[in-house]
Amino acid sequence: MLKTLKDIDLKGKKVFVRVDFNVPVKDGVVTDDTRIREALKTIKYVTDNGGFATLATHLGRPKGEKNPKYTVKPVADHINGKGYFKAVFVDDCIGKSVTEAVNNQKQDTVLILENLRFYPDEEKNNPEFSKNLAAPFDVYINDAFGTSHRKHASVYGIPSVMQNKAAGFLLEKEALYFDRLLQAPEHPFSAVLGGAKVSDKIGVIESLLERADNILIGGAMAYTFLKYKGIGVGKSLVEEELLGTVEKVLKKAADKGVEIALPVDHIVSAEFGGAPEVCGVQDIPADRMGLDIGPKTIESYKKMLSKSKTILWNGPMGVFEQPAYAEGTFAIAKYAAELDATVVVGGGDSVAAVNQAGVSDKISHISTGGGASLEYLEYGSLPGIDILRG
Ligand code: 3PG
Repeated sequence: MLKTLKDIDLKGKKVFVRVDFNVPVKDGVVTDDTRIREALKTIKYVTDNGGFATLATHLGRPKGEKNPKYTVKPVADHINGKGYFKAVFVDDCIGKSVTEAVNNQKQDTVLILENLRFYPDEEKNNPEFSKNLAAPFDVYINDAFGTSHRKHASVYGIPSVMQNKAAGFLLEKEALYFDRLLQAPEHPFSAVLGGAKVSDKIGVIESLLERADNILIGGAMAYTFLKYKGIGVGKSLVEEELLGTVEKVLKKAADKGVEIALPVDHIVSAEFGGAPEVCGVQDIPADRMGLDIGPKTIESYKKMLSKSKTILWNGPMGVFEQPAYAEGTFAIAKYAAELDATVVVGGGDSVAAVNQAGVSDKISHISTGGGASLEYLEYGSLPGIDILRG
């Protein structure tokens, strides 16, 4: 059982909330605050129930060094600018300045600590560092789903030493959806997998072969599958070293009765960024590269999805960042959003795609984790969640 926020008495308690505010910052300005907004429910609940909330996050990969490029201060400024809550920035994440700020904290303010990864001990999960982080606090809350695959001090070390700990609402919701997908998906269960590389998704494919009824492949990873099958892929991106893996995947899928669907036509071009052309057959000419799934594939994938009760989508169908190659991704996003099915979208690119397609409010669950959602699917849980399970 995952202990959650509502199981904890927060009144008068000093609460360390691990959030994933690893948001894009350009010239000191936060350019996408989805992850911040997703954590607001937890933060508000802590303060509304008499707790004193302190937020801790990493930002980027400063490699254990204090580097102003990765300061969390713009995040605090952004929160105050938006009026989400009264944020007070603390210029360290351990030591005297934190203890003083926590001891003098007013109940209507929320402290935001400086980047955890300014200390190499965060990523090393150093027990002493975990103790220092935990020292000023009574309660530990993890709402950082996107980081819960990292066995770091703030994700794994602190809850190893603190008794009073629980999942925040965001973490709870993510775990609920992924557990349902993995343990009791309503069938038919279709997975739509895209993105550039088979190698990034192989663990997820293995896991889905045990659970899904069909797997619809798009994106550049489709060309490695097609090449293995002896189909012409022209100048498309192919992972030659993965051809043996594809053979094993297809064999296992056949043994398990899982249908692996591949594109039957494509949007191609002579070069990346060049004019798009429909290639109406499965074989791509030698002087063309595939950049999106074609119209026949869109229709056949829609047909397969129409019967599904559960859909997992990870990875775009083409190079959707360029409008000329975006139709496949947007068509699938819009279609899946209209279905009477549980639709879970994970991975940064596919999340951006459903946002751009304007259908995010119709998706059952959009995961805030990229790597974390892939590892959840592959391993069935994450270290940062396991440590909170009673
Ligand atoms: C993410 O953006 O995926 C998380 O914040 C984890 O970041 P990391 O890959 O640098 O650990």
